[in-house]
Amino acid sequence: MQVKDLIASKVSLAPMAGITDYVLRSLVREHSKTCLLTTEMISSEALTQIKDTDIVKRDEDHSPISYQLSGHKPQMIADCAKYLQKYADMIDINMGCPVNKVVKGTDGCALMRNVELAEEIVRTVKSQISIPLSVKFRLGYTFDELNYVEYGQRMQKAGADFITIHGRTRSQMYGGKADWKKIAELKRNVDIPVFANGDIISIETAEQCLEESQADGVAIGRGVMGDPSLISRIERYLSKGEYLPPPTLEEKIAGMKDYLRREKDFRGEEVGIKFVRKFYPYYVNGFPGASKIRGELVLMDKVSDIYEMLDNIALQSLKNVLI
Ligand SMILES: Cc1cc2nc3c(=O)[nH]c(=O)nc-3n(C[C@H](O)[C@H](O)[C@H](O)COP(=O)(O)O)c2cc1C
Repeated sequence: MQVKDLIASKVSLAPMAGITDYVLRSLVREHSKTCLLTTEMISSEALTQIKDTDIVKRDEDHSPISYQLSGHKPQMIADCAKYLQKYADMIDINMGCPVNKVVKGTDGCALMRNVELAEEIVRTVKSQISIPLSVKFRLGYTFDELNYVEYGQRMQKAGADFITIHGRTRSQMYGGKADWKKIAELKRNVDIPVFANGDIISIETAEQCLEESQADGVAIGRGVMGDPSLISRIERYLSKGEYLPPPTLEEKIAGMKDYLRREKDFRGEEVGIKFVRKFYPYYVNGFPGASKIRGELVLMDKVSDIYEMLDNIALQSLKNVLI
């Protein structure tokens, strides 16, 4: 598949380590047949040691899907990319991860300070794979180093076929607000497609981001946590102008139970519940008494107890509507 086919729906699932696992990707795919899925970041060092991990698992209908690699050794990343071609429709290189232990090893966003190495990675990988190659980066390392336009141009020249840009600097981590307007400057200065990313949590924010960034599409990360139908609703709006409302409290509860069951089946009850805890704030956001509910949920370690609590919340909400 060519890049234009992979990104035809104009919406992608952004890669998130410890979040966009096989289960979440499958769930997003059930809602959207067309969006570009992305795996969690896969460390090239780790993949070199152990090949068949759960992290690479996919189903037939997961296409279009991109596999994201991190690392700083060009040939090692290329070897991993070659191996992943049997799963992936596209390989993405992580050049935006801000986490200390990642940037310390010259991976992730540290590559934005080492453009020559980033170019070498892209050239080396590109010359050895037969599927498209993309890069994901930020506006720069700090506000004094906003090199995203030149960086994008150089990645394009080195062979990248597609860019996803998160409208923050590394120094912002996840604080402040993503600057979508700056992305327009990158878009004007490269010929390859650009997806804008950062703080898109609704149809309205997707529309505003596209207007400000002039990007070819949007990548959605945290917005799908607690609302795996978000991508499909944005796609529907962009392609048909149809506005489907966000899930109701009852729908969110049903979705949360379903998600918990799937993670339990995938990882076992103990690990599955621990994994899903990160999602609670997103699922219960907007519920009456959300912080109390969250506080109680994180202490629970049995799926049956969590179900009981969620059923009670749904029942209470129904009673409130009927009163
Ligand atoms: C928990 C978490 C894990 C993330 N892991 C990755 C990753 O593995 N690779 C990557 O390129 N970006 C990663 N990101 C960044 C997201 O892809 C995205 O750029 C960022 O969250 C902003 O988009 P959003 O506001 O839609 O979430 C991660 C973000 C979060 C919150």
